[in-house]
Amino acid sequence: MSDKTLVTWHQQNVKRRRGCVVWFTGLSGSGKSTVANCVDVKLHEMNVSSYVLDGDNIRHGLNASPEILEPVHGAAYAKRFGLSFAPEDRQENIRRIGCVAEIFCAASTIALTAFVSPYRSDRDRVRAIVNATGTAEDFVEVFIDTPLEICETRDPKGLYKKARAGEIKGFTGIDAPYEAPFSPEVHLAGEKPVEELADEVINFLKSIKKVK
Ligand code: ADX
Repeated sequence: MSDKTLVTWHQQNVKRRRGCVVWFTGLSGSGKSTVANCVDVKLHEMNVSSYVLDGDNIRHGLNASPEILEPVHGAAYAKRFGLSFAPEDRQENIRRIGCVAEIFCAASTIALTAFVSPYRSDRDRVRAIVNATGTAEDFVEVFIDTPLEICETRDPKGLYKKARAGEIKGFTGIDAPYEAPFSPEVHLAGEKPVEELADEVINFLKSIKKVK
C-alpha cells in the first residue's frame, strides 16, 4: 500500500485455500439471481462453501440508496454515501461488492455475485483485484446472454414497463448501456432450463478444479 494512505497492509497468519468469485453479468431479468441461486444450491449439496451476493439485496444494505439512508443518517450523509444508478454510482456499487467478493474468496468461499454490472471497465477492475491476490482462475465471469426482448417480456418487477414509459431514467438496455463481456469464462445463451445453465457453471468450476 502507498505511504499516502497512512494505513499499512497487515499480513494474515492463516493460509487458506482460496474460493473464487463467480461474477454473473447481464441485463435486469436475464436470470442472474435465479441461476446463481441454483448454482448455490448445487454447491451446498456438494458440501462446498458458497454464498450469493445479489444486487437487489445488497442495495438494501451495504450499498443502500440515498432514500434508504436519509431517514437514519440525514440528507448530506445520504447524498455522500447512498448509491443510485448513475454511471459513477454503479461503478462504486461494483467496486464495493468486488472487494466483498474478494474477501469471501480469501475466506475459502465461492462468492456468486448477481449484478447487472453493465460497464466492462468496472468488471475488469474487480477481475484485477481478485487476480492480484490469487490466480487468474479465481475470477470467473459468467455472461447471461438473454436478449433484451426476452428480459422485457419477463419484466418480473415491472421496471421495463416503467422505463419505456419514461418513469425510470437511465435503465440498462433501454436508455443506459450494457457492455457485454468480450471473452467471459462462461457464456450462457439460449433459453435453456435453469438447471442446465447452472450445470454449465458447475462444470466449468470442475474443469478449473475449484470443485470436485
Ligand atoms: S448495477 O448496474 O449497479 O450492477 P445492480 O445489479 O446493483 O445494478 O441492480 C440492478 C437491479 O436494480 C435491477 O435488477 C433492477 O431490479 C433494479 N434497477 C432499478 N433501477 C435500475 C436502472 N436504472 N438500471 C438497471 N437496474 C435498475
